Amino acid sequence: SPLHFVTLLGSLRKASFNAAVARALPEIAPEGIAITPLGSIGTFPHYSQDVQEEGFPAPVLTMAQQIATADAVVIVTPEYNYSVPGVLKNAIDWLSRVSPQPLAGKPVALVTASPGMIGGARAQYHLRQSLVFLDAYVLNRPEAMIGQVTGKVDAQTLELSDVATREFLARQLDALAALARTLSPRAIT
Ligand code: FNR
Repeated sequence: SPLHFVTLLGSLRKASFNAAVARALPEIAPEGIAITPLGSIGTFPHYSQDVQEEGFPAPVLTMAQQIATADAVVIVTPEYNYSVPGVLKNAIDWLSRVSPQPLAGKPVALVTASPGMIGGARAQYHLRQSLVFLDAYVLNRPEAMIGQVTGKVDAQTLELSDVATREFLARQLDALAALARTLSPRAIT
């Protein structure tokens, strides 16, 4: 049966390069993988246990439910100051308090894009660390760190135009599908 992945976007910027990458994933996806975007993490309030105790914000619960029912999650995010953007960390902090915790046992792939050479690699390793605590299964390889992204996205249409990058991302999605099928026998029946 087909697999269903969801994308979690770590940038709120309208012309975000990472958003361009995330938008391309459904077209790039190999046959048998459907990919839909999660809602914007910009709707989440700043995490506070006081706010949580008044009741989880609806967008948090909706996203938790969408993650829980997905076969895998693809996190697409910029790197801020050599780490995870605060808005994305905030979203992960919220999601981590939902019970049952939706990322537990969930296959996750990381994609970062940056105008710089390193492609957001440092953010990936910090993100991976948080996902250890959440007991997610983060795909090890291939690692998708898209450097010099300004030359890989069409300036007019904001489409991910670089063919090699698209092919590389398709291979990563294939690897994520293999991980999802390994972890969840129901995904192959
Ligand atoms: C950045 N940027 C950046 N880039 C990088 O490769 N490593 C970094 O540590 C940082 N740090 C950083 C901090 C802050 C606060 C901002 C606003 C930006 C540059 C960043 O990669 C660039 O702005 C991207 O365009 C952001 O991704 P989106 O929004 O285009 O997806």
